[in-house]
Amino acid sequence: MSHAPVFHGSWIGSTSVGSPFWGVPAPYVRKSFALDRPIQKAILSVTALGLYECEINGRKVGDMILSPGWTNYHKRVYFQTHDVTDLLQIGDNAIGAILGDGWYCGFVALQPRQSYGDRPQFLAQLEVTMADGEVFIVVTDESWKTVASPVLQNDLLAGETYDARLEKSGWSAAGFADGDWQSVEVFQHPNLMVEKSPAPPVRRIGEIQPVATIEKSASSSGGLAIIDFGQNFTGRVRLTVRGSRGQTIKLRFAEVLNPDGTLYTENLRAARVTDYYTCKSSEEEVWEPRFTFHGFRYVEISGIKKGQSFQILGVVLHSDMPVTGSFRCSHPLLNQLQQNIVWGQKSNFLDVPTDCPQRDERLGWTGDAQVFIRTACFNMNVRGFFHKWMQDLRDAQRPNGAVPAIAPDCDSVQNIEEGGPAWADATIICPWTIYLCYGDVQILADHYDSMKRFLEFVTLNRCKNNIRSHPDLNKFGGFGDWLALDGSGNEGGTARDLIGTAFYAYDTEIMSRIATVLGREEDVQHFTHLHGRIVEAFRRRFVTPDGLMAGGTQTTYVLALHFGLIPEAARASAAKELVRDIERRGLHLATGFVGTPYLLEVLGKNGYLDIAYKLLEQETFPSWLFPIKNGATTIWERWDGWTPEKGFQDKDMNSFNHYAYGAVGAWMYGVVAGLDVDPEQPGYQHIRFQPRPGGSITWAEASLQTARGEASIRWEINEGVFRSSVKVPVGTTATYYPPLESESPVVLKAGFHDLSWPLVAG
Ligand code: BGC
Repeated sequence: MSHAPVFHGSWIGSTSVGSPFWGVPAPYVRKSFALDRPIQKAILSVTALGLYECEINGRKVGDMILSPGWTNYHKRVYFQTHDVTDLLQIGDNAIGAILGDGWYCGFVALQPRQSYGDRPQFLAQLEVTMADGEVFIVVTDESWKTVASPVLQNDLLAGETYDARLEKSGWSAAGFADGDWQSVEVFQHPNLMVEKSPAPPVRRIGEIQPVATIEKSASSSGGLAIIDFGQNFTGRVRLTVRGSRGQTIKLRFAEVLNPDGTLYTENLRAARVTDYYTCKSSEEEVWEPRFTFHGFRYVEISGIKKGQSFQILGVVLHSDMPVTGSFRCSHPLLNQLQQNIVWGQKSNFLDVPTDCPQRDERLGWTGDAQVFIRTACFNMNVRGFFHKWMQDLRDAQRPNGAVPAIAPDCDSVQNIEEGGPAWADATIICPWTIYLCYGDVQILADHYDSMKRFLEFVTLNRCKNNIRSHPDLNKFGGFGDWLALDGSGNEGGTARDLIGTAFYAYDTEIMSRIATVLGREEDVQHFTHLHGRIVEAFRRRFVTPDGLMAGGTQTTYVLALHFGLIPEAARASAAKELVRDIERRGLHLATGFVGTPYLLEVLGKNGYLDIAYKLLEQETFPSWLFPIKNGATTIWERWDGWTPEKGFQDKDMNSFNHYAYGAVGAWMYGVVAGLDVDPEQPGYQHIRFQPRPGGSITWAEASLQTARGEASIRWEINEGVFRSSVKVPVGTTATYYPPLESESPVVLKAGFHDLSWPLVAG
């Protein structure tokens, strides 16, 4: 049972306030108290509007980073609880916190600061149960004191500025003289829900040593070096330096370098992404910022003098989700692709699923999360993470049922009120995926009404004759097949009404299944009928009887085939059209965010597994492996983020760490290695092993930590024989579908199994 206190105190904060354009030093707040008897147990419940790090008697409480995370602070904020029994003592005690601006009042996306409020605020309650059973409570109230800390500036996008000369040694210790500190200001937020977070906290998950240090123009006056971590990631650096009192060291960050070896920071747009540290002595000093994070591979350090020694360590930050999956195969570049996908997930699952971690954006774009969630569920346990984000999404839902483009919602960000096809639909697709992968009925029940309201909104406001995003409506029709190479939406490419109607059909199909799971019989009927009408409307408008489709882009065919929108008799010719386009492009894809996740699956399921493998193994532009051939260590936002002919794409939108195209990961687990969930028995109660070998791959393996234990598969092809070993966890069963479809499936019980088949039909 979670400990859920009623907070008896008030929100407290400093008297100094920044502005929409500049911040003030992060405040310290503190309070002394005495305990006169032995203690049995002490629980601290704590949160902030903004960010906090809490200390008791000079020792940091917990190991969470950027707490309490990001929510729509007008509605909801999460608190954390810590057992702090060991930090307390009989006699004098002190509790303190340092408060950061974070999402609450720092820069969020492209907007001025102070999106939710003008200064960080803190709420805490310490409940000490004495040995004799009596409970002593310390709450935040007007008796607390505050003063500016050495953190002169702190911002998630801009970076942090720290002057060690201003440190107040022992500021959170008992007996510290706080006589010259000011009284705090007190605030009330009676309508704000303060709840326990369902999400795993952000922590320091790893450390990365630099792989190279490139010294540049070191001189006695300044000095400058670029450090390469060899990996694009999200986090910050820990600096160890022996400088001199008053010396300021500047750190800038970038994902890639310009051809001349300098940092390429243009794609960060307005995000300053710069940290400053001012030394307090000539001794060795160690510093890591508290209230910022960057997306980077390279760090430029300046302010170092000739001969001064320094060290820099990369600190990886993300939501602390257990790693559940692994994938490997005989193709080294595909193994690197898997690594890049995992790094894309680590880099963008920082309390909220973000589009990117580096530029002045870092928002919970619904479309991106929807596209990637299936793959995310293989790599890590994202159940709690998505429970939290689904609440963010529900908090962002408009009274008319519309689901916006971004969650959490944020006043200052021009949130698109209705995210449009493939973006807003995250509200149905994400809980459904969590249900399939974890057998989690609760997430369906929690959000069912909100999903229904969303579909009602779409039906009433975004459809004409069952065509969603119908051009006659003259309303925002969505982002199209975002960043597709054959055009997005209005600039040609896959038509928005086609994408809209395809996802409308998909939503209603999922809803009828969810209604079945939840036992809502009437709704099952309703959504099944609606689905039938949408499919008819789709066919009338977009599909000719012989399977040709208006527009004819790859995504057009991919969506129609994947969502079952093509009449059975025309499927083969539609699939042929898709392949024709791929071949016309010299075996290259042209799909954007919307079509890419299903591209290989559609090819594989419609008789073109060979073409699917050609695309997966394609190394020339555009392809998954092209960035890897060019040194990528994460997934790029755009297929053409950089090309030898054109160099960098448009600096205004060119992230090298967007996870969307990493959605191919689910196909590598499910089809290349051959481990997948059975949608009829969610949560891996029954496992499907169905490897479909192809291309140049001679062996593959995947493992997955399911709720019931580890499931795994390995296969290899040797002299025309396909050999496979699988592990079926206790309490589950599995079916193995042999690579030759002429062979019968094998039902497997829990345990280890070795199977083999000749690869030529006998
Ligand atoms: C984001 C995307 C997002 C898109 C919406 C971009 O700026 O980075 O990933 O989905 O806007 O079209």
